[in-house]
Amino acid sequence: MKNDIKEILFTKEDLNAICDRLGKEITKDYAGKQPLFIGLLNGAVFFMTDLIRHVDLKCSIDFLKVSSYEGTHSTGNVRVDGHFPDVKGKDVIIVEDIIDTGKTLYELKNLMKEANSYKVCVLLDKKEARQFDVHVDYVGSVVPKKFVVGYGFDYNEVYRNLPYIGVLKEEVYM
Ligand code: IMP
Ligand code: MG
Repeated sequence: MKNDIKEILFTKEDLNAICDRLGKEITKDYAGKQPLFIGLLNGAVFFMTDLIRHVDLKCSIDFLKVSSYEGTHSTGNVRVDGHFPDVKGKDVIIVEDIIDTGKTLYELKNLMKEANSYKVCVLLDKKEARQFDVHVDYVGSVVPKKFVVGYGFDYNEVYRNLPYIGVLKEEVYM
């Protein structure tokens, strides 16, 4: 599996430093509160579990599985698969692996109207790819429009378990 990687963009240490910085920021911003972290499955599981170990607050966690409706409509849509967390009156922090076009997070916001507050934390931000206007509160790092794998990021559901984030060799896509 590791032989398929052309370039490493974020090492284990880089990722730990990101989680530490964001965890401290969230700890400060939510002082006296008890936020609910909602991780978007499957990609954000790795980031979320590392992040919250850097958060020094009483908090709770939940997960949400959403799938994109590709279809023919460019406006897009997301569908919730299964369990939907109870967000009523909660201070919700959505934890996502990456924001790309912004479609997923744009649609998701509409489902969180019952929350007391709503913030978004992403590990990576592919800023240049944005098509939907989404406010992101916490960003691990801005990245170029390259397809990444590892640390939760998959290519056809594989490579999520790499301990770093990298770019695949071209021949892997063929
Ligand atoms: P958006 O709705 O276009 O912002 O897309 C976000 C979703 O696309 C993420 O949750 C990822 O699942 C997926 N995604 C975007 N870029 C990458 C990538 O470089 N590697 C793996 N998955 C990606
Ligand atoms: Mg995802």
